[in-house]
Amino acid sequence: MNSRETLFVADGKLNIGNFEASALARKYGTPLYVMDGDHIENLCKKMIDAVAAYGDGAVAYASKAFATKATTRLMDKVGMWFDAVSGGELHLLLTSGVNPKHIIFHGNAKTEREIREGVSADVGYFVIDSISEIDRLDAEAGRQGKKQEVLVRINPLVSAHTYFAVQTAAPNSKFGFDIEKDALDYVKDINSRKNLVFKGLHIHIGSQIYGHSSYDVAVDKMVDFIVKLGEVGINCHTLDLGGGYGVYYTDEDPKFTPESTANIVKNILARLAVKVAEKGLGKPFVIVEPGRSIVGEAGITLYTVNAIKDFGVKKYVAIDGGMFENPRHALYDSQYSAIVCDKADEPMTEKVTLAGKCCESGDIIAEDVPLQKAEVGDVVAVFTTGAYNYSMSSNYNLNAVPPVVMVKVDKADLIVKGQTYEDILRNNVVPEWI
Ligand code: LLP
Repeated sequence: MNSRETLFVADGKLNIGNFEASALARKYGTPLYVMDGDHIENLCKKMIDAVAAYGDGAVAYASKAFATKATTRLMDKVGMWFDAVSGGELHLLLTSGVNPKHIIFHGNAKTEREIREGVSADVGYFVIDSISEIDRLDAEAGRQGKKQEVLVRINPLVSAHTYFAVQTAAPNSKFGFDIEKDALDYVKDINSRKNLVFKGLHIHIGSQIYGHSSYDVAVDKMVDFIVKLGEVGINCHTLDLGGGYGVYYTDEDPKFTPESTANIVKNILARLAVKVAEKGLGKPFVIVEPGRSIVGEAGITLYTVNAIKDFGVKKYVAIDGGMFENPRHALYDSQYSAIVCDKADEPMTEKVTLAGKCCESGDIIAEDVPLQKAEVGDVVAVFTTGAYNYSMSSNYNLNAVPPVVMVKVDKADLIVKGQTYEDILRNNVVPEWI
């Protein structure tokens, strides 16, 4: 179980905020995503303070981790900026009332439509990530009579200490312009375009990274690159260092608090400040883009146990969720910790595999993890499911995407309704010739 004041055991029962988890499960049904609004708000504020300790900058929440209107409003209120990486995310941010200047538009393969919509919305920065985007964005801004401010995504060639699928700055990554090859030429090209305003650079080295050592390497490389830009007369006003800060899933991971996560950011930015001073440069406006670290530990998922199979060497506890609402074990072999909500005081004497209900052997939430003795009908909570669970959900096997409830102090409310069968089939069309 991750460590925070709003998640605790009382009278043998798991509580989140002022609510017993099993009572929420009874009220809203399972599977159920529960997000702790206080934890999210606390992390946003701590991250904003960490950037303020450096100087001018912003914290742009990476919407892809978990994006809803309610969480967007909550984060906007405390002063967060936002990343979008699709027209859908952009639409969510704009319709949630986010100032377009606080939106950073990412994507390595933006569509013509996304480019048109981003320019038309006056987003703060486009992050250019391909040669074709330079031409397309320049042309679109020209058509709309605008000068679009841009950052350029650089691959700083840093293999961050994390698992392969979420490293994003290894050699030959699909992201960014290679810092050792053509990056400088493309920045020069962008800087000369009539309808583009080069404002700075962006990197994102990966996700679920512990500590700051990989970032330090990247920061040093980026400052050297900024020096090179200066030599050809190009000023780097903004440096966006991406996100990627890790969270606690199991005892294999370090434990984090909002303070310790924010301290990682402080350390990275302190290094940046020292490095630019060494080179006689001014401090760039800095952006960090945390996703997982803001929402990951804020989320738990509640399930009902529907079946148990014990083979001696392996025991399955099968729940009413699965890869349609949390595909991370199937995709990344990721592990989670869990608890039987109303047996929270009992010892974890069992080692179980939490299996989902989809028709695949790989449909697993966590493998061989400790748990109290569970019975059919028990409510089980899986921790640290706030990031990349709801946002990666699907209708596989035509299972409905579960509802999301937010808990904040003594309030609990739906922020996303659960899908109905009708919702799942809403876009099905039968042509009359069938
Ligand atoms: N900025 C950019 C440009 C990104 O691509 C990402 C994440 C972030 C920021 C936020 O990274 P975070 O702070 O959340 O680590 N689905 C995978 C994670 C993919 C991350 C993609 N990019 C997972 O479930 O582990």
